[in-house]
Amino acid sequence: MASVRLEHVFKRFGNVDAVSDVNLDIADQEFLVLLGPSGCGKTTTLRMVAGLEELSDGSIFIGDREVSQVAPKDRDIAMVFQNYALYPHMTVYENMAFGLKLRKVPRPEIERRVKEAADILGLGALLTRKPKELSGGQRQRVALGRAIVREPKAFLMDEPLSNLDAKLRTQTRVELKRLHQRLGATILYVTHDQTEAMTMGTRIVVMRDGVVQQVDTPDGIYNHPANQFVATFVGTPAMNLLPGELTQKGGALMFHTFGQDVTLPESMRARLSQAAGRKVTLGIRPEDVHLSSDFVSNHPDLQMKATVRVVEPMGHENMVYLAIGEETVTARASNDWHADLGDVVTCAFDGARLHAFDRETEAALV
Ligand SMILES: Nc1ncnc2c1ncn2[C@@H]1O[C@H](COP(=O)(O)OP(=O)(O)O)[C@@H](O)[C@H]1O
Ligand SMILES: [Mg+2]
Repeated sequence: MASVRLEHVFKRFGNVDAVSDVNLDIADQEFLVLLGPSGCGKTTTLRMVAGLEELSDGSIFIGDREVSQVAPKDRDIAMVFQNYALYPHMTVYENMAFGLKLRKVPRPEIERRVKEAADILGLGALLTRKPKELSGGQRQRVALGRAIVREPKAFLMDEPLSNLDAKLRTQTRVELKRLHQRLGATILYVTHDQTEAMTMGTRIVVMRDGVVQQVDTPDGIYNHPANQFVATFVGTPAMNLLPGELTQKGGALMFHTFGQDVTLPESMRARLSQAAGRKVTLGIRPEDVHLSSDFVSNHPDLQMKATVRVVEPMGHENMVYLAIGEETVTARASNDWHADLGDVVTCAFDGARLHAFDRETEAALV
């Protein structure tokens, strides 16, 4: 396996900037996930690494070798697509062996590699079947097998799970993660699904409109988002946002929104005292908005009055939609928390879990 490096990579289609100045260092054996909404440039980035798309500018390295001008077949990487397109008239064995035959790999070597891949993927009993005799999940595994037998320097995967139903997707996600560990593979994986990114990635690259927003571990992306876009793209339900102002009151730094104030904790005051007077957006995740009377009474500085809009019982918890001024704030409450619609309740924020973003640039204030 090998590292993959992108340096100042650009791709323009006419006047569309599909990818703008992307710099990435994918370490050997890393599982790096490119995450972002549809159209943000994920596939284009992957296709440039594969050599299927020319760069408008910049360079790409696989290991120490610059490959920007190298033909796709000579880059020694394997790509797995969403549409795995197996050859319908070939058996599972033949589908996996085909690429190696084309490369004139000796037959015993082909047999060894196909058998090994089939073992890893649990396809051993299916080698004589045709694709139409397989389930969707099995077909996807054959597509992975086809990539594995190549013993490539790196795997490129473009939304490989999105054609599977929800249950199978979860199962295959776990398998892929195991496969990564077992093969010690370098994987560049594209998805618009934040759960896939959070569960599989050693690091996540969040993209928007062709521009990298943040490169970080799942923990870093979730707990220290660099801007409002990253903050709201990752996490379900999404992070709550409240527009307001930072104000100084005595020695304290307050956040003022819709006629109410909360006192920000000392750690935020130390960081943000320069920002007093600024218009900001406060961010707080639903699990950090508390409704239990214990938490609320213990945190008088961080209380807010809110009107109950909807209570959604989820079984293990209740999702509570609250109105604060014109904004809806979602709170995850325990399943024994009840209130009537229209009730005015007091919630309290977890001060250690607050985020503040500049109202103009939407960048996190740190
Ligand atoms: N061959 C092409 N010709 C013109 N525009 C393209 C082409 N391929 C992609 N694009 C545009 O580039 C942008 C990024 O596309 P893509 O990389 O497919 O996004 P993603 O995979 O994140 O959904 C989109 O605006 C898309 O319409
Ligand atoms: Mg795509």
